[in-house]
Amino acid sequence: MQCPKCQHENPSEALFCRKCGTKLPSVCPCCGNDISPQDKFCMKCGTKLDGATNTIAEVNAPTLEDVHAQSKSWIPDELAKKYMSAEQQATGENRPITALFADISGFTPLSNTQSSEAMFQLVQDCFRELVGIVARYEGSISGFRGDALLALFGAPILHENDAERAILVALDMCSIMQERGLDVSIGLNTAMMTVGEIQTQLHSEYTAYGTDINLAKRLQEAAEPGQILVGTGTHRLTRRVFDFEAIHDLSVKGFTQTVTAYSVQQMKAHPEKLRGIEGLRAKMIGREHEFSDLKEAADLWLAGQGQMVSIVGEAGIGKSRLVSELREYLSSKCDKESGRQGDKENPPLSPLPLVPMSLLEGRCVSIGQPISYWPFLDILHTWFGLVEDDTEAERVQKVREHIQELLSDRCDDILPYLGHLMNLKFGDDIDTRLKGYSPEQVSHHTMMRLRDIFVALSQKQKLLLILEDLHWADDLSLDLVSLLMDELMAHPLMLLCVYRPEQKHRVWRLGSQAQRKCLERYREIQLQKLPPAYSRRLVQELLDIDDLPEGVRGMILTKSEGNPFFIEEVIRSLIEREVVYREDERWKAKEGIAHISVPDTIQSVVLSRVDRLASEAKYVLQCASVIGRLFKHKLLEHLTQKQQELDGYITEFEERDLIYEERTIPELEYAFKHALTQEATYQGILEQRRKSFHREVARGIERLYHERIQDFYEELAYHWERSGDNEKTLEYLIKAGKKAAKQYLNDAAINYYTQALELAEEIGISGDRLAKIYELRGFLYDGMCFYEEGIDDISKAAGLYKSGTKRANMYQAISRAYEWSIGDRDEAGKYARMAIEAVDPDDKSRDASLAYEGAGTVFIHSIDLGKGEKFLRKALSISEEMGYKDLLATQYTLLAWFYDYSFRWRPDDEYWLSYDEDDMRKWQEDARKKALLYLKQIESEPATYVTVAGYGGLYLILALTFEDEKENIYLCQKALRVGARSSEGWTMVLAALQLGGTYQGQGKIDEAIEVY
Ligand SMILES: Nc1ncnc2c1ncn2[C@@H]1O[C@H](COP(=O)(O)OP(=O)(O)OP(=O)(O)O)[C@@H](O)[C@H]1O
Ligand SMILES: [Mg+2]
Repeated sequence: MQCPKCQHENPSEALFCRKCGTKLPSVCPCCGNDISPQDKFCMKCGTKLDGATNTIAEVNAPTLEDVHAQSKSWIPDELAKKYMSAEQQATGENRPITALFADISGFTPLSNTQSSEAMFQLVQDCFRELVGIVARYEGSISGFRGDALLALFGAPILHENDAERAILVALDMCSIMQERGLDVSIGLNTAMMTVGEIQTQLHSEYTAYGTDINLAKRLQEAAEPGQILVGTGTHRLTRRVFDFEAIHDLSVKGFTQTVTAYSVQQMKAHPEKLRGIEGLRAKMIGREHEFSDLKEAADLWLAGQGQMVSIVGEAGIGKSRLVSELREYLSSKCDKESGRQGDKENPPLSPLPLVPMSLLEGRCVSIGQPISYWPFLDILHTWFGLVEDDTEAERVQKVREHIQELLSDRCDDILPYLGHLMNLKFGDDIDTRLKGYSPEQVSHHTMMRLRDIFVALSQKQKLLLILEDLHWADDLSLDLVSLLMDELMAHPLMLLCVYRPEQKHRVWRLGSQAQRKCLERYREIQLQKLPPAYSRRLVQELLDIDDLPEGVRGMILTKSEGNPFFIEEVIRSLIEREVVYREDERWKAKEGIAHISVPDTIQSVVLSRVDRLASEAKYVLQCASVIGRLFKHKLLEHLTQKQQELDGYITEFEERDLIYEERTIPELEYAFKHALTQEATYQGILEQRRKSFHREVARGIERLYHERIQDFYEELAYHWERSGDNEKTLEYLIKAGKKAAKQYLNDAAINYYTQALELAEEIGISGDRLAKIYELRGFLYDGMCFYEEGIDDISKAAGLYKSGTKRANMYQAISRAYEWSIGDRDEAGKYARMAIEAVDPDDKSRDASLAYEGAGTVFIHSIDLGKGEKFLRKALSISEEMGYKDLLATQYTLLAWFYDYSFRWRPDDEYWLSYDEDDMRKWQEDARKKALLYLKQIESEPATYVTVAGYGGLYLILALTFEDEKENIYLCQKALRVGARSSEGWTMVLAALQLGGTYQGQGKIDEAIEVY
């Protein structure tokens, strides 16, 4: 503090000038404004002053809000600007946030010896220092909760090591406060949290919300003075960097169950990288040409040109490595561009890019049949920020909010499809909007919506979609990739497709598609084996051993055949066998190494490493391998029943580089380092044990995920099949088939049904159950225009069904196929008759009515008008009696059409000669009226049964039966409207043509052009 008289700089707590003895002016404890002793309130900020200086408790209580307000002025200008621009981008987002609460204690003893003014200054200085530390690591000050300061890491500025930064801040805070003779108790927790502005009474505050933030506060309250307690979220992310002491069963206020907290001890002497054994990750060797190709594409993309790159190569050759190098390149590039150099004393800790671009990665998994849109769902989950603990309501809210923000005017149009795709219920009419749509329509529209989402995202921020392991992709995902290629010319979207050269898989066609669609934006990077000189360098990089005998080096090189993964595995096996060891920061080889033999195949190398695990650990790893290359922590916990020890094993596997943490969102999941690691571990399990493992996995999925079991049908079919439980396998094969058919994944659905049929026949299933599967497959074939196969299956179903009406439905379907698709009217008539004969005469079910309706249409077409009318009327009598309104609308429309058809095309048919024409016109009029009456009643309801032409189509058929132009125009307009609502493309086209023709006839050319 500067003396007003002699300008001497005094310590902040001084009351009188050290040099000239002048009384120094007092300052307001809140805003720092000068005050005189007689002031009762600060004239600048209004803080009450009298008596407020007696105890530290009173110092704290009224002023924290204002300390916060003032804290902004303590942040360097440059950083403040950065916060501001980042805040705008990050508002309303879900992000992984580490929340830090810090409460300073130990003021009371000091207040006995220090004057109150000195205490004010001290408090302010302390907070100023804390804020300074937070700012140095680019965290942000969110405000105060109670007496504790809240800082956030990960918002608004995101770094890849925010949790690490937060603990560094906590450690700094402790030591600085200690120097002042004070203590600080600190609590931290990391979780997905929502960030944004909230308004408090005094100011608006950029902060995070969610229950996880409360845990950080409670941990701070539970911490002793000078202690730093972190929650499991923070611990998991930082356990390789700091030493911790676990505190189990800690009771914290507001939480019903006890929690495990970790007390931070210190930073490790050798902080490890998140993966791998220290010293075993080599820098990338070779690949200069390939990498520069990739960088060139990325630069063009950053300059605004859409790009498509395929990285193709064998397992373990280095595809994912190239992708991870690209990530680093982009990160450092953007860092440079944003001008963030960091000062020498406090270098930034590998920050993530700030320039507006997003990287979203999705990977495919290899289990039996691929799951539709898997990699894109993966991407969407990340983007929506879905987390494991989200309730359905929270998931729904997140999805809604993201779409609302991205494409607000299309929310109602997009959400029904996302709901369908992700099995979400929005709880309003969005859920029922797709009811009347055919699977084909839903599938088509879903894909278009997904495309629109990614295009819109790329317009908001340059977007890089990384699609890993596409050689396991489902057809729909590949279709979507292909569709997105069309957008590359117009949008800053980059598709990075990574796959193995599996020529039998559809992914193999991606290259030729790209050449057709976006040649000038496409490049393919083929990764070949590393040449011997490079392999040698890789070995050298990984194992910097001077005395490694040339024989051993040669053996590693020959066995690994230029595959970097194999090189790594062979070396790891040497380390684990302890013939290579670390001493004083260097690798050394044992004497006997020259005689060591290494298995010939990569599988056996991996297996020999797995075999060296202790038996319990090996058991856990085997369990994981049964789940698959990707395995959920929760499921593994269920399978191994080892809650306590599991994380220890997982850390061990990670350290041995057998697995790595794949993702924490939407739930914690690990992946085997390599597909080969998983395969080899799995192959090592005895056949009989494998079965029981698979059974437990399937049971676990049923139990743990019963609320969204649909998501797991494919996996369940796979695990039950491998467990040998035929009944369960059959159940899930059929369910997976239906699910695939619903998503219009026809080939996959046929596959499931075929597997189901083979299994059913094998285990002697017969009768209705077998019939049902044939029916499912037959109808699907029919829909795919494989009529012969369809008729074949449906005939088999007809032969198996016990119920006459069910058989009738089958014959009916066959008759329809002959009538409409194959064009064989005789056969159509034959089956229509068989259908009628099969119906139980007393049956009044919808199926019975449909059988008569179908026979009616076939006979009318086959020119037996009399029979046709008779069957149609029989159908109507059942529907009338039972009140099937939707069937009545269809059947009366058909009847009206029947008269029209007969008048127009068969006026001389014998059948008519027995009737009076006026009577017939009356009947037709009556049928039209009734059809319209029922249609009006049901048109807004979702179609329960997909009518002949959809409700819009029925309006159109009725329009065609009217010669009166006014009626005709009215009904065509109706057809257009109803058709548009339920996406009946053909109806709309035909109705528009019809309407345009009528307008044209009337000379209304403008109206005609408009509808055309
Ligand atoms: N050029 C290289 N220099 C150094 N290490 C490499 C190189 N290429 C790959 N590696 C290492 O080899 C291992 C296997 O590589 P990576 O995981 O990228 O293979 P991949 O081609 O993606 O295999 P998969 O098809 O099974 O996913 C990794 O640990 C990676 O870091
Ligand atoms: Mg890979």
